Amino acid sequence: MKRLQIRAILLITLLITTTTFGKDTITPTQPLANNETLVSSNGQYTLGFFTPAGSNNCYLGLWYSKIATQTILWVANRDKPVTNSTGILSITSKGSLTITDSNSTAVVWSAGSTGLTNPVAQLLDTGNLVVREDGGSGSYAWQGFHHPTDTMLPGMKVGVFRTSGLNVSMTSWKSDDDPSPGSYTTFMDPRGDPELFLYSTAAGSANKVWRSGAWNGVELSGSPSSSSFQGFVFSFVNNDQEVTYSYEVANNSIVSRLVINRTGVLRRTVWLGDTNQWTNDFWYAPKDQCDSYGLCGPYGACDPNRSPVCKCLLEPAFTPENPANWQLRDGKDGCIRRTPLNCIGGTDGFNKVINVKLPESANSTVDMSLSLDQCRAGCLSNCACTAYASARQDGSGCVIWVSALVDIRLYVDGGQDLFVRVAAADVVIDVAVTTPEQSHKSKSSKLAIVLSLILGVLLLAFISCFVWRRKKRSKVMLGATASFNDASNGGAGENDLDLPLFDFGTIAASTNHFSEESKLGEGGFGPVYKGKLEDTQDIAVKRLARTSVQGREEFKNEMVLIAKLQHRNLVRLLGCCIQGEERMLIYEYMPNRSLDAFLFDKEKVALLDWQTRYRIILGVTRGLLYLHQDSRFRIIHRDLKASNILLDKDMNPKISDFGMARIFGGDETDFNTRKVVGTYGYMSPEYAMDGIFSVKSDVFSYGVLVLEIVSGKKNRGVYSNSSHVNLLSHAWSLWKEGKSIQLVDESIGYSFSMDEAIRCIKLGLLCVQERPEDRPLMSSVVQMLFSDIALMPHPKQPGFAARRGPFEAESSSNKKDPSDVNDITISMLEGR
Ligand SMILES: *[C@@H]1O[C@H](CO)[C@@H](O)[C@H](O)[C@H]1NC(C)=O
Ligand SMILES: *[C@@H]1O[C@H](CO)[C@@H](O)[C@H](O)[C@H]1NC(C)=O
Ligand SMILES: *[C@@H]1O[C@H](CO)[C@@H](O)[C@H](O)[C@H]1NC(C)=O
Ligand SMILES: *[C@@H]1O[C@H](CO)[C@@H](O)[C@H](O)[C@H]1NC(C)=O
Ligand SMILES: *[C@@H]1O[C@H](CO)[C@@H](O)[C@H](O)[C@H]1NC(C)=O
Ligand SMILES: *[C@@H]1O[C@H](CO)[C@@H](O)[C@H](O)[C@H]1NC(C)=O
Ligand SMILES: *[C@@H]1O[C@H](CO)[C@@H](O)[C@H](O)[C@H]1NC(C)=O
Repeated sequence: MKRLQIRAILLITLLITTTTFGKDTITPTQPLANNETLVSSNGQYTLGFFTPAGSNNCYLGLWYSKIATQTILWVANRDKPVTNSTGILSITSKGSLTITDSNSTAVVWSAGSTGLTNPVAQLLDTGNLVVREDGGSGSYAWQGFHHPTDTMLPGMKVGVFRTSGLNVSMTSWKSDDDPSPGSYTTFMDPRGDPELFLYSTAAGSANKVWRSGAWNGVELSGSPSSSSFQGFVFSFVNNDQEVTYSYEVANNSIVSRLVINRTGVLRRTVWLGDTNQWTNDFWYAPKDQCDSYGLCGPYGACDPNRSPVCKCLLEPAFTPENPANWQLRDGKDGCIRRTPLNCIGGTDGFNKVINVKLPESANSTVDMSLSLDQCRAGCLSNCACTAYASARQDGSGCVIWVSALVDIRLYVDGGQDLFVRVAAADVVIDVAVTTPEQSHKSKSSKLAIVLSLILGVLLLAFISCFVWRRKKRSKVMLGATASFNDASNGGAGENDLDLPLFDFGTIAASTNHFSEESKLGEGGFGPVYKGKLEDTQDIAVKRLARTSVQGREEFKNEMVLIAKLQHRNLVRLLGCCIQGEERMLIYEYMPNRSLDAFLFDKEKVALLDWQTRYRIILGVTRGLLYLHQDSRFRIIHRDLKASNILLDKDMNPKISDFGMARIFGGDETDFNTRKVVGTYGYMSPEYAMDGIFSVKSDVFSYGVLVLEIVSGKKNRGVYSNSSHVNLLSHAWSLWKEGKSIQLVDESIGYSFSMDEAIRCIKLGLLCVQERPEDRPLMSSVVQMLFSDIALMPHPKQPGFAARRGPFEAESSSNKKDPSDVNDITISMLEGR
């Protein structure tokens, strides 16, 4: 069979090459006989009669002249073939194109005009067969491009010509040997924000199968191009005359077509001349389950990266209309509002959904002159309005939906923002209040990591210069270095220090002699370098500047402390280097830097999906439990915060920076210090105000961290329009109102476990309670992470929830940019 087809094709090719007349025009006196062809003047396209393999029917068709395998691009008489005969194409003296059988008896097909005086039909260089007055320029009386079959060629316009009512659409072939109209049609819906639709009649009645999404200024929004190939120029015209979509190739050497095949797949293919093949991997649609029109019903959103793919928009503001079917993964019924809108009361608000394919807009109104703010106002003033959005990707124009939102899908990136109208009770963050996000450029977060690492080391030196006094027992004790020896009963002397000592030359070589290129960052206290040991292991080298006041003994003690701690959620010290004046600590290198660089970065936060965040929370919990209870020593970290959580290549969290850590003995539960070290926003009230620190002050910082991870917001930092509100008080008020799910970072979208999120929020709130004795120990925290939410105790008011932190007015930091204060570990001495 295949061989037969090839033979047929060869025969046709043979005919073309032997009988090409080289003409591109027919006139009333010069018709086109069956064995003749027209060839466009550039030689690219050929028009002639063909008979599909396995058929007795003869059709007038268009194909590429230079591609040996005949590829039919257009068929004039697709449902009116010449049967059991060959055909003749002629043009009447009035301009009517006709196809007759070879006896010139019966007209099987005709098109064109009846009002011309000196007509010609010409095959243009674009492959368009046109009828016009001979010698006339400009308009055509008729053209093949207005009657495509299943293929869109460059320069062809698919859409609606408003003045003539012409509706240019493409319909698939019925079968491989029958070009008559099949089951799938692509056409333009000019209503709302116009877009292309794919309809199927395969099931009897016409069904929408897929829609292209509206033109976003660059491409059709619902079908982002996956290829970076620059060879196409797409255009979309929407004016009084026409609503059309078309494309051109950037260069005539590119041969490309867009075909709708028999099973309803629209595909762009490009001819690769050097391999003599068509390549299919440019673009096609529908691509995945979520491309199926309306799969998740009204107010449902389809996310191809989760299972099941359907999710209600803005859950829990919208909930499944038919939960039973929804459970069975049938989303067709869609979702309904939890709380009715209150248009008359004027209390409705909007929630933003990001990275979406905007819903079908046939019933919506589009006004390209409105800004987004005016769009919002327009929506609020129309009680039928359900949502609004910018019409274009660049934020211009306004689309207002006035019926149910259908066929929304989510993208990982790309897509547009949709503002969905919800009742006041369901508003997460009112979009009128824009949240000025502090954008952390990679440079500044790099600096922050380095600064906090090095500050930690320096502060340890500072601490040990002071004599600490225990408030309750008036027992005088020494700082971290001395208490280390107390706690370990002198067991951790220099002798059992099992830490590799690196030779200065090795480290210098590994960092390319501390070259600028290998520098990860520079703090006020010395640089940190990236190195490679023996060309295999990546390391981070913290080199203390000569000017550092940290003495030799303190340096070694810090080293000993970290070396003794080994846990997969603590950063690992690989060794040190002490040579002459040089002091260096060598750590494992963390390719993903620190958590804050992701969490508080507008773009990178998208990489933190819920599963990753939850894993980070679990890891930090394990690490802190180890410090507090499970290691040989009991250690209070004292500076737990997002920038001290480093992330390895798999995004596993590792607690770092033990510069301020303190070891406490078996019977000691808390310490009092005159010198408060820590970080704004993470310090417990009793520590910040009274200098009392204990495991419970670490638990407080842990709670803040958990809430930050869930919400993607800093505890301190511009959070709402009222600068007096921090994350803790926001979380607390949402909790009290039973709306804590709204705390979850909106960049996570819908892909998160509600149960895990609420558990984390409740846990976070329990950890930041005002009174230390109310906060759980880390061992209870671990239990709660795996127990029933209902069995967890009820949190009380968090510390610092309702008032400003005591240090906000002053800053001991020497940084000039106040937005960076958050990241800097501060050190403060109480007055004597
Ligand atoms: C084409 O067919 C016609 C008759 O249908 C015949 O007279 C003519 O010679 C043919 N031309 C070629 C080049 O075969
Ligand atoms: C074409 O020829 C076949 C057999 O050769 C015949 O069965 C069929 O009816 C013919 N069709 C027409 C339209 O004449
Ligand atoms: C064409 O004409 C010839 C002779 O005049 C006749 O035998 C043949 O059947 C005709 N063909 C068709 C398709 O009418
Ligand atoms: C254009 O044609 C398609 C299919 O033939 C049809 O479904 C659609 O309604 C038409 N559009 C207009 C505006 O006539
Ligand atoms: C067209 O593209 C071909 C190969 O892609 C290139 O060699 C040629 O220079 C291009 N021509 C123009 C006019 O850009
Ligand atoms: C249509 O295209 C799709 C995707 O390339 C393919 O899977 C399918 O087999 C094609 N259908 C036909 C009838 O060729
Ligand atoms: C448009 O409105 C009509 C009438 O209310 C409704 O039947 C239809 O489903 C709506 N279409 C869309 C896409 O919302």
